[in-house]
Amino acid sequence: MGGSDRPKRVLCCVGTRPEAIKMAPVLGALRSAPWAECTVLATAQHRGMLDQMLGFFEVEADVDLDAMRENQTLPELMARLLPALDATLATTRPDIVLAQGDTTTVLAVALASFYRKTPFAHVEAGLRTGRIDLPFPEEANRVLAGRLAALHFAPTAQARANLAREGITSGVHVVGNTVIDALLRTAERDPPLPLSLDPSRRLVLVTAHRRDAHGEPIRSICRGVRTIAERHADVEVLWPVHPNPSIRAAVESEMGGVARVRLCEPLDYGSFVAAMKRSTVILTDSGGVQEEAPALGKPVLVMREDSERPEAVRAGVAALVGTDSAAIVRESSRLLTDPAHYARMSRGSSPYGDGRASERIVRHMARFLGVDPAEAGPADEFREGSENAEVRVVAREEVGARGAR
Ligand code: UD1
Ligand code: UDP
Repeated sequence: MGGSDRPKRVLCCVGTRPEAIKMAPVLGALRSAPWAECTVLATAQHRGMLDQMLGFFEVEADVDLDAMRENQTLPELMARLLPALDATLATTRPDIVLAQGDTTTVLAVALASFYRKTPFAHVEAGLRTGRIDLPFPEEANRVLAGRLAALHFAPTAQARANLAREGITSGVHVVGNTVIDALLRTAERDPPLPLSLDPSRRLVLVTAHRRDAHGEPIRSICRGVRTIAERHADVEVLWPVHPNPSIRAAVESEMGGVARVRLCEPLDYGSFVAAMKRSTVILTDSGGVQEEAPALGKPVLVMREDSERPEAVRAGVAALVGTDSAAIVRESSRLLTDPAHYARMSRGSSPYGDGRASERIVRHMARFLGVDPAEAGPADEFREGSENAEVRVVAREEVGARGAR
């Protein structure tokens, strides 16, 4: 057992939809590591959407804190999580605690681990806009969790550089983003889209949920999407609506009954991947979707003022359009009507990973925990530009079939 007489106890924590998606491949890799004994903790900051994803990836939580309440506030959620996490740490006594991203769950897990003097490993470390209030509260959550972490799994070289600027240089490994692991494995299975869409129409896929968008910005997003549907008769909009009550109320009141706009419940991961593959343009404020769309060769318009994921914008396959309805309409219409522009933005690129982030994470963790390097395996890193060839094939097929007209 790598120089120790017992397996290393790893506590893996998930709370929301994207955490389940991005941790599922890590859990898979941990389960096949002979040195690791893994316990899965669900804070259930999200209830329905977390269960939907855990079910899709066939992950069962060993501990469930059942923390979600209708329209929960940030302080009340944090106040519920800390003592419950501490009690779990006291009983499970992990050698290391793992969590992913920038949610309230992640900050609570990092802090609870720190109080118990247990090393915290941060998956998807180092993303920054550089503005502590944007996105709110995620940038602060990620900065604070990073300050408390012993291991930092940075998806890209840019994320490592961000950490270095804050003086964090030890325990940092560039591994790629685990969402690309989940995406490639799911896309490979070619899941069906369980909705009947008009095959003659191009699909514009929309998601939105950020707290920064609550109030007027989400209404402005809705007006933009409505205008796109009105102007382009050969376009159909699919919008799986996030259950956050502030978002859902606005989207349903602004978009209900609009011709060629289809609102639906959140899709399971396979169905959503199928929808992304079927789409011509993706409009989103989601972190995960910004990472996935370029890997599928789909142009993505990011409905935010700034993004902690600048790599795709730099590569020219994503554009920041903000939440102003006129800008959303202008940039979407350009993609839908200008084939050269469409081709430039849909050439397929995967700056966020190559599908092997999870195995790297597990190997780096093993070394950190003192597992014999022969058993831990090589400690390699992700280098941009080594993206998976298969993804590009998906991109080419779809672009050929459904690009700008
Ligand atoms: C949370 C994260 C955000 C992440 C997003 C992913 C925080 C502060 N926010 O935002 O960073 O990008 O998840 O989707 O950590 N709800 C349900 N069912 C669900 C999930 C949510 O009904 O399955 C409703 C509940 O009323 C809940 C509300 O949405 O109170 C807000 O959930 P919360 O996790 O606090 O914030 P999100 O806006 O979902
Ligand atoms: N997603 C999904 N079903 C949906 C909408 C999104 O499976 O109906 C996936 C999407 O592919 C991505 C993740 O959920 O991997 C993004 O989650 P979300 O936008 O809620 O959070 P964020 O990434 O912004 O934190």
